[in-house]
Amino acid sequence: MKIAIGNDHAALELKKVIKAYVEDMGHEVIDFGTHTADSCDYPVYGEKVARAVAGGECDLGILICGTGIGISLAANKVKGIRAAVCSESYSARLTRAHNNANIIAFGARVIGEDTAKDIVNAFINTPFEGGRHQRRIDMITEIENKG
Ligand code: RB5
Repeated sequence: MKIAIGNDHAALELKKVIKAYVEDMGHEVIDFGTHTADSCDYPVYGEKVARAVAGGECDLGILICGTGIGISLAANKVKGIRAAVCSESYSARLTRAHNNANIIAFGARVIGEDTAKDIVNAFINTPFEGGRHQRRIDMITEIENKG
């Protein structure tokens, strides 16, 4: 798969770890930055990753900021994006299986490296179940289309 990744300054080091982890799984990772520890604005990177996923350039996305919240809020403003903040792998698995989330977000100031890896592993390797869950996602899309 082609995986988009993005982060702010709070998550630079965890991004490097997760990028290498996903590449070791055999996926291609497109890194949208930020690439330095200089203070930056998380909406920039949330939007870049969201547009890459929504536009089909990437299959799934990973976003990391201090909490995972701000960057996911920005991503969720892009049409077609379902970005979920998770702090454990059970939710990461279920948000793929039930919500067909296309971006996972988490906080570098909230969880450690091993938990982040568990989350990413669950997210990437769980398929969407479809069925009744598709109807509910269609309902979310209808809300989005109302503007
Ligand atoms: C940056 O200090 C911090 O606000 C950001 O990383 C994130 O946690 C926002 O939601």
